[in-house]
Amino acid sequence: CSSTAAAASSSSVLSRRGFASGPAPERKVAVLGAAGGIGQPLSLLMKLNPLVSSLSLYDIAGTPGVAADVSHINTRSEVKGYAGEEQLGQALEGADIVIIPAGVPRKPGMTRDDLFKINAGIVKSLCEAIAKYCPNALVNMISNPVNSTVPIAAEVFKIKGVYDERKLFGVTTLDVVRAKTFYAGKAKVNVADVNVPVIGGHAGVTILPLFSQATPRANLSDDEITALTKRTQDGGTEVVEAKAGKGSATLSMAYAGAIFSDACLKGLNGVPDVVECSFVQSTVTELPFFASKVKSLLVRHLTLYKCFILVLSLVRLGKNGVEEVLGLGPLTDYEQQGLEALKPELKSSIEKGIAFVHGN
Ligand code: NAD
Ligand code: LMR
Repeated sequence: CSSTAAAASSSSVLSRRGFASGPAPERKVAVLGAAGGIGQPLSLLMKLNPLVSSLSLYDIAGTPGVAADVSHINTRSEVKGYAGEEQLGQALEGADIVIIPAGVPRKPGMTRDDLFKINAGIVKSLCEAIAKYCPNALVNMISNPVNSTVPIAAEVFKIKGVYDERKLFGVTTLDVVRAKTFYAGKAKVNVADVNVPVIGGHAGVTILPLFSQATPRANLSDDEITALTKRTQDGGTEVVEAKAGKGSATLSMAYAGAIFSDACLKGLNGVPDVVECSFVQSTVTELPFFASKVKSLLVRHLTLYKCFILVLSLVRLGKNGVEEVLGLGPLTDYEQQGLEALKPELKSSIEKGIAFVHGN
């Protein structure tokens, strides 16, 4: 009894108020790339989430072991491992949420776009399977380059006739996690109280933290804001260099991915006022995808700060996914310049993803 209570209490950190009323509904979550550096700790965190009833772990190899290991944890969900393409359909069937951390990570000296050659094909084939086996699932895209893999997913779903822009999310939560941590350190405030919207995309200058909207407010100098912005934009590279050839962020990414998926689950379950940033289809700028604050249709009125495909935006989430992509709010001159500066790169990454699917 006490160990169950302990498990429930640790998972409640991710899932406080996980459903509007009554017992938590059945929810199947599939992780594609579950045996990888992100996939393993992310699978662990999803196993700790009491909103998940069925956890499906898929990879090209190695998932039976990961699934056996994770399945011994005494929490709600039933865990199954699937290995190899012939088991992908079973892994996906009935999924409410599909999280995709499949693909190769960066090594020092590489950009995220350098991963396109390998990861574009992986994401494309996984999305073709999603369109076939769970076309209504919410897709949480982690694989890089997110600025291109989200448009790839969108185009695949369009071709298959199942595209619903409310259900496709580029996971940019790690940028928000970093911005909060770095801001709290500089502003000397409790990190647990900090909120920082991050808009744009998920690569270098396309990552645009809006420290002017950060709370609690702090009197930081222009130089301090510039340094915080740069550190947030280069956060991924900081980890890649520190790992010196052994990959990119995995543990902080698993945490960020678990936070984002938990928000999606809450949205689906009808919890109000869930807010995250995500890279989603957006009209807040002239770019088709942008990371913004998003209100989702996952349930009723989930408000998500989401960074989505064409633009990272704030999004309100509801029962069917994104309910509303929120505006950017007032920007300082510095942030406005950052927004203009990111558009060419983001546009070109989006176009590259779209062209890939259409064979151009
Ligand atoms: P990893 O190499 O440790 O793991 C990747 C896993 O994907 C491996 O287990 C591999 O077998 C699996 N895989 C490869 N092809 C597959 C396929 N067709 N179907 C299913 N699984 C397949 O890499 P990682 O460190 O876990 O990173 C994974 C991806 O996440 C990379 O592209 C990385 O750049 C990206 N990433 C994104 C963010 C973000 O903020 N969005 C943060 C960190 C890493
Ligand atoms: C990150 O931001 O850590 C990821 O996108 C991985 C990377 O390559 O930087």
